[in-house]
Order: sequence, then structure tokens, then C-alpha cells
Amino acid sequence: MTATPAVRALVRDLPANALPAYLYDLDALGEHASAVRSALPPGVEMYYAAKANPEAPVLAALAPHLDGFEVSSGGELAHVRQTVPGLPLAFGGPGKTPAELELALRLGTERFHVESAHDVRMLAGIAARTVPGTRVAVLLRFNLAVGQDLLANSALAMGGRPTPFGIDPTEADDMVRAVTDDHPQLQLRGVHAHLASGLTAPQQLAVATAVVEWSARLMTRHGLRLSEVNVGGGMAVDYARPAERFDWSAFGKGLAALREEHQGLIVRMEPGRALTAYCGWYATEVLDVKRSHGEEFAVLRGGTHHLRTPATKGHDQPCEVLTTDDWPHPWPRPSAGEGPVTLVGQLCTPKDVLARKVPAAGLRAGDRVLFEMAGAYAWNISHHEFLMHPRPGFHFLGAAAGRARTLDH
Ligand SMILES: Cc1ncc(COP(=O)(O)O)c(C=O)c1O
Repeated sequence: MTATPAVRALVRDLPANALPAYLYDLDALGEHASAVRSALPPGVEMYYAAKANPEAPVLAALAPHLDGFEVSSGGELAHVRQTVPGLPLAFGGPGKTPAELELALRLGTERFHVESAHDVRMLAGIAARTVPGTRVAVLLRFNLAVGQDLLANSALAMGGRPTPFGIDPTEADDMVRAVTDDHPQLQLRGVHAHLASGLTAPQQLAVATAVVEWSARLMTRHGLRLSEVNVGGGMAVDYARPAERFDWSAFGKGLAALREEHQGLIVRMEPGRALTAYCGWYATEVLDVKRSHGEEFAVLRGGTHHLRTPATKGHDQPCEVLTTDDWPHPWPRPSAGEGPVTLVGQLCTPKDVLARKVPAAGLRAGDRVLFEMAGAYAWNISHHEFLMHPRPGFHFLGAAAGRARTLDH
């Protein structure tokens, strides 16, 4: 999404020493989440994967449009429970520790996504002593080889090939028996499968259908009722074509048809990126402009230690330039020629590239650059301490933020 008026106005107003800054438009976020929610049919639940962006105002703005949150560590679990009490939590992820499971049980976590035989035994043992007499709701996470051609071409495949995520499907029957026969303190509700990131709506639908059908066959073999299937997140976000959006309406219609075939089944999803990416921006200013071996570079205040997304995903972060005639210094102002300009940060590594060959003829030091689609897997996945540059400011805009809020990190 190009910058909303509130975001653009604040970027123009901020003094240079208040940059870089992250800006979130919480009203835009709420509208987006509401539109996604209304595309989904009854019986389809939407959780938000907090790992995409766990900022408290972001969680609070999303909460009215959600059925719950997916959390993948004790830290996320405690933070989300405290920030948005009252919404169900699903605790997943590999390598859970005994202390995390105990915390999750004490905080009344509603669902556990178990990833291995060890995970099952540990959860059952800790549940027996922490919440005796309670049956803990469990989904078995499987690494399914469904729709493998789709997974192989996805942005990030976490399933359908050897990975540490989920349970191998060859162990499925033993795992079902282990939960139902050996651990009465656990209640098997169904299956979880987050297999890939970056799938379009038709691809997601094909994978979700295959997961639901595989799960139904598994439970039928054991004479059990399949109550829930969590089909994960991974809805595509296209950084090269920001206007191309995941087709929630087609996905919702497809899920409605799938539920017709499986009456009473709760289909749950847990998107992260596709909910928050569009409503965050990273704003900064040009510090210097130079030519190197025939190419132009603009060095920006900040860099990939704040916004690691383009470095990890290997894309050019979409951006917009806000020019200014203000140049308060007595020395000449560096400026670019007619050619494209590569936008880099202040780090001493050639990997510190935010966007390559941007058509920004005449870009000058002091101009501002506003990077879009910085609301997911951005600040929270970045290596903040490298080179000890100052941290960015954080601004949460909109009525949902109670006018505007600024947070320190
Ligand atoms: C288990 C699980 N669920 C949901 C997500 C969210 O994925 P995305 O942000 O691509 O929607 C992830 C991301 O890694 C995940 O590991």
C-alpha cells in the first residue's frame, strides 16, 4: 500500500534526528483485517501468527477481527496473553521447553500444536502435574507431502521435504494412538499443517483441501471425530508487485465449499505477513550520494539492521521518495544523476541493501525515503545491535491508537 496521508504527513514533519522511524497506520490495519475477516465463511477461524509483528498496538488493533493468536515461544505467549487477554492462544513451534509448557498451561492456553513424540510425552507429563484433571486440547502438527509441486515453488517451504517442523506422516497412526491411548490428559482435536509461505489463494486452497482430506482419513481410520484442522499461514505477499493481493474472497469461497463436504469441522488459519505487512512503513533520509564503478548509491540513515526483510527474502523493498528543498548545511548537497540509484544502509557490509536500482533521478542528501510493506517480519527479525547505531522511533497512528502513540524500544 502506498503511504496513507497520515503516515506521509508525519514523515515530512519529523525532524531528521527522529529518523529512521517505523510508522504503523492502525486504522488501515483494522480496515484490512476487517475486510479479510468478512471474506471468510462461518466455521472458518482466523488466528494471527504473532511472530509476524508482535507490537502491542498492532495486536490490539487486530484483536477485534480475530478468533485467536498463534504463538511460538513462551515469550510470545506471555506477551500476547498480557496484551490482549481473553482471546484464545494456540501454542506451537519446535523445541518447546518444559518451562514454556508449564507457563502455557498455567496461563490456560487453549490449544497446543505438538510437533513430535517427545513433545506429546512432555506435554502430557507436565499437564498431569500442573493442571491435574484438565484435558488439554491438542492438534498434531504434520509435515505433509501434499501438493508438493506447489510447496516446492513457494517462497519458503517448511513441509513436504525434510525439515525439523511437525511429525513425519509415516508416524501418524502411532502418534494418534499415543495421544488417545497413552495420555488421557490430552484431547486430540485434529491436525495442524503450516507447510509453506508465499502461496496464492488457489494454491492455498489446494493445499488446505489436501490437508483436510488427509486429516479426515487419518481420524476415520481410528474411529475418531475430526473437530479442527489448522491449515497454517503463508498467504502470499508480493513485494515486487505491492498491488497484487492475496485473493481472500476466492479463498473464503473455496473454504466454504470445503466445509460443505466436512460438516461441523472448524477450519482455522493463522496468517501473519498477509495481515500486517501492508500497514507498516520504515522512513528515513538520504545521508550521502555517490558513484561507484558506474553505478549510483544513496546511503540512508539506518539500514537492514532495522529492516532486514529485503536482505532475508532477497527482494527490493518497495519505496517512495519524498523530496525536500531544505538543506540546512553550509557544504554542498550530494545529489544523484539521471540513472537509477541503489539504496543502502549505514552498515559495513555489501549485504546492507534495501532496494536496488530504484528510478530516483536527482535524489539528494536530505530527501526522505519511505519504505512500504514494512509491517511484518521487519523490525522484530532484524539484527539491531550490529554496529550500535541508534534505534528507530516507533509511531502508531490512527483512532485505534487513541490518536497517535509513540513507543520507545
Ligand atoms: C507455524 C506457523 N504458522 C503461521 C506462520 C505465519 O506465516 P505467514 O506470516 O507467512 O502467514 C508461520 C511462519 O513461519 C509459522 O511457522
